[in-house]
Amino acid sequence: MKALEGIKILDFTHVQSGPTCTQLLAWFGADVIKVERPGVGDATRKQLVDVPGADSLYFTMLNHNKRSIALNTKNEVGKEVLTKLIKECDVLVENFAPGALDRMGFGWETIQRLNPTMIMASVKGFGPGKFEDCKVYENVAQCAGGSASTTGFNDDVPLVTGAQIGDSGTGLHLALGICVALIQRQTTGKGQKILAPMQDGVLNLCRVKLRDQQRLDKGPLTEYSQHGKGIPFGDSTPRAGNDSGGGQPGRILKCKGWENDPNAYTYFITQAAVWPRICDLIGKPEWKEDPEFATPPARLPRLDLIFDTIEQWTMTKTKFEVMDECNPLDIPVGPILSMKELAEDEGLKKTGTIVEVDHPERGKYLSVGCPIKLSDSPVEVVRSPLLGEHTSEILTEMLGYTGDELNRIQESGAVG
Ligand code: COA
Repeated sequence: MKALEGIKILDFTHVQSGPTCTQLLAWFGADVIKVERPGVGDATRKQLVDVPGADSLYFTMLNHNKRSIALNTKNEVGKEVLTKLIKECDVLVENFAPGALDRMGFGWETIQRLNPTMIMASVKGFGPGKFEDCKVYENVAQCAGGSASTTGFNDDVPLVTGAQIGDSGTGLHLALGICVALIQRQTTGKGQKILAPMQDGVLNLCRVKLRDQQRLDKGPLTEYSQHGKGIPFGDSTPRAGNDSGGGQPGRILKCKGWENDPNAYTYFITQAAVWPRICDLIGKPEWKEDPEFATPPARLPRLDLIFDTIEQWTMTKTKFEVMDECNPLDIPVGPILSMKELAEDEGLKKTGTIVEVDHPERGKYLSVGCPIKLSDSPVEVVRSPLLGEHTSEILTEMLGYTGDELNRIQESGAVG
């Protein structure tokens, strides 16, 4: 028994944001039916190809545990099949460019008429307003949602982050919206429309930066390194480099081997509660009592000196030795782990967060499994479907087409 067993999802998603959402729902046990254009499919199948002729990692890593039906939804017979699928399913998820579903003839009013219990969930770049018709990709959302303006160093250009907060982040928001709408439907008996705009999702994840924007009106942000360096603040939340986002100052510091290894660094947090232990560890016991260092406010203007001194200590250790020494003392630190190190991490393999999947076209590859662990709904990662792999079984077993009717559909060119 899986958490979402029995829930049928009509998956009209493509690229990354929508597929992230439906992959999670599939991992929680929903039957996710991915609708793709015959002969074409999700554009990512053939993007960033590393094994000629095989579905790309971009596609396979975002579409596990789904079934694929190749269906031309702009053709009359295809529309007939789609109508049946809408009547059969609980949720329709889509992240087409604005207006695409209406142009296909399946806007919200039509869907509601065909199936009043259906939940229709959409990702768009922007919510209602002047940008609502724009197409949006990951980095546009990071820029428009406040992430880029607050990422990077204050004397350099805005930066986008490696974490796909616009696409995968919004997919997560949408998955939550779908789950709560399913719960509400148990009471109301009705479906509803869900919109997760990427700009809004990124802004939600940048909540602490809007906090700082308002604090800035009251005076300088004293925990920012910029303050200690005497650099004046402008009128908006600045880029904070590697400063920690909370009230406990932290920085990325060099560790042994940094000259040759781009990831020989640790994140080090000078949490107030363990300050005396940090002083002893780095050989500065006198800082425990010194009024210039003893309290968090006294330390704020001296963070450069403090972190330079801590770095003299971290540079004598590997990033893992720093962890080994700090953890028993409850000093919060974290090694900067490379993708190579994560891919080889035995602990993550054991918990199923790194999984090896076998695929008929490309052989074995690594993927990120479900990062959310439910004790009563275990996840088994199943390879992504080939284009149209389940067309016949969906037409027959799910929609009940047989005999002449099935032949008519198969010969119409609407399915593949
Ligand atoms: N049968 C027939 N036609 C189909 C189909 C099917 N099974 N599946 C898709 N199509 C059609 C659509 O109806 C659309 O046609 P139209 O433009 O004539 O209306 C067309 O394929 C392309 O869809 P579109 O969504 O416009 O794709 P795109 O490649 O031009 O744009 C995005 C890609 C991501 C920019 C755009 O979809 C978008 O902005 N999505 C919302 C935001 C988002 O999720 N962005 C992040 C993606 S990771």
